[in-house]
Amino acid sequence: MEGRPITLTLGSSNSSAASDGNQPILKVVGRSSLQGQVTVGGAKNAALVVMAGALLCPEECRIRNVPSLVDVARMGQVLSALGVKLERDGDAIAINARDINQSQAPYELVSQLRASFFVIGPLLARLGIAKVPLPGGCAIGARPVDLHVQGLRAMGAHVHIDHGIVHAYLTGSDRRLKGAKIYLDYPSVGATETLMMAATLADGETIIDNAAQEPEVVDLANFCRAMGAKIKGAGTKKLVISGVDRLHSADYSIIPDRIEAGTFLLAAAITRSELSVASIIPDHLTAVIAKLRKTGVKIVPEENNTVRVIPGPQSLATDIETLPYPGFPTDMQAPFMSLLTLSEGNSLLTETVFENRLHHVAELIRMGADIRMKGNTAVIRGVAFLSGAPVKATDLRAGAALAIAALAAEGESTIEGLQHIDRGYDRLDVKLKQLGANIERIDPQGETEPTPACKDESILLK
Ligand code: EPZ
Repeated sequence: MEGRPITLTLGSSNSSAASDGNQPILKVVGRSSLQGQVTVGGAKNAALVVMAGALLCPEECRIRNVPSLVDVARMGQVLSALGVKLERDGDAIAINARDINQSQAPYELVSQLRASFFVIGPLLARLGIAKVPLPGGCAIGARPVDLHVQGLRAMGAHVHIDHGIVHAYLTGSDRRLKGAKIYLDYPSVGATETLMMAATLADGETIIDNAAQEPEVVDLANFCRAMGAKIKGAGTKKLVISGVDRLHSADYSIIPDRIEAGTFLLAAAITRSELSVASIIPDHLTAVIAKLRKTGVKIVPEENNTVRVIPGPQSLATDIETLPYPGFPTDMQAPFMSLLTLSEGNSLLTETVFENRLHHVAELIRMGADIRMKGNTAVIRGVAFLSGAPVKATDLRAGAALAIAALAAEGESTIEGLQHIDRGYDRLDVKLKQLGANIERIDPQGETEPTPACKDESILLK
């Protein structure tokens, strides 16, 4: 790498600070059928943590199939602020963490991207010290990090929280984390990933019991192993990591995004369209595919990691409860609810992973859905049709849910909160339009706005 630093400049539509008044919106005219094939990108929730994992390595790593998303741009900014050099090269990013010159992640960046908290484990493992702002809550819940902190303390780190900053440091001559036996009260994806990364360079063996089994956790483990880490049990509830002294460069490709893939499966189902979705690993979507089949949709695996969606004559009700993997994924809860609003019969949908991830219910009701809430369970009675309406997305997956509901609704919908969708979907509107949807991104001045790849990311090479 020529060692040219990269400055990531978030564009004017950089979202979180701006009020909705000057944010682009989506305009959808429903009832168009979709056709053709869509290819999903690399998994956001693997790319973000793998980028943080590259901090463990004092040599250049190359990460491929990295989606062009606002959150990826923000993670790049956080890493740059720590002294990491990044270079985007098409769908790959070269990351060189040889010269980390900062142990504190900047508050203003971490507050925009919760996933920035993932740097705490690698910084501790590399530098023996880390100061990372608490990521704070978001629309879907309080998002505490107590399990991360408890695990790092078990590995010998001194951790205290002061003015919203998590201060973690190691004492002792070698200032090195120690292997430990850790039990997670909840199979937290993030805590599993933080502790796995920290353990790769610890002195001794670390066991993580009740670990998360998500495909993105396995992807991170495979990336760390490509760098020379010794990790066993990835994808099971018990991880065993034997610490090594140093990791080496790796060239690694991120798995496809199962949530983006699932979103397109649902877009096909709700518009009753036959569609092919490419770059999908069906085993990563077992629960979602099983539930789609229950609603009467045929999912036919084809060659080259492609599946064909063939909807039945009518969508049928089914019950869903979100659970840690391999259970039904919480990230698919909102988009699937959109389908259930038009599914004949009564469906019960219970969100058990996050305490506040049902904001889209009110918006779907505005579109004519028949949903009653009982605690964290939605009782959904299928209706004959939805009506287009002005609706507002409050989080990433709620935004996707409203977009696909609008595809099936009669008439026009406008969807505010596009900044949430852009965080996790690379040009969702463009991909849907290419499949035949009547969907436009409208800028605040009412002009139809082209959607370049990751509108908020302009990478300037210095
Ligand atoms: C990851 O979040 C994903 N984000 C989320 O995707 C996903 O919904 C979630 O895993 C569950 O699959 C990324 O990977 C960047 P958790 P994470 O720790 O790690 C509680 C999206 O839409 N908990 O498994 O934060 C927590 O409050 C995003 O792409 C603690 O109590 O999820 C929650 O109720 C949204 N203490 C539950 O565990 C902790 O220390 C699951 O959280 C950590 C978590």
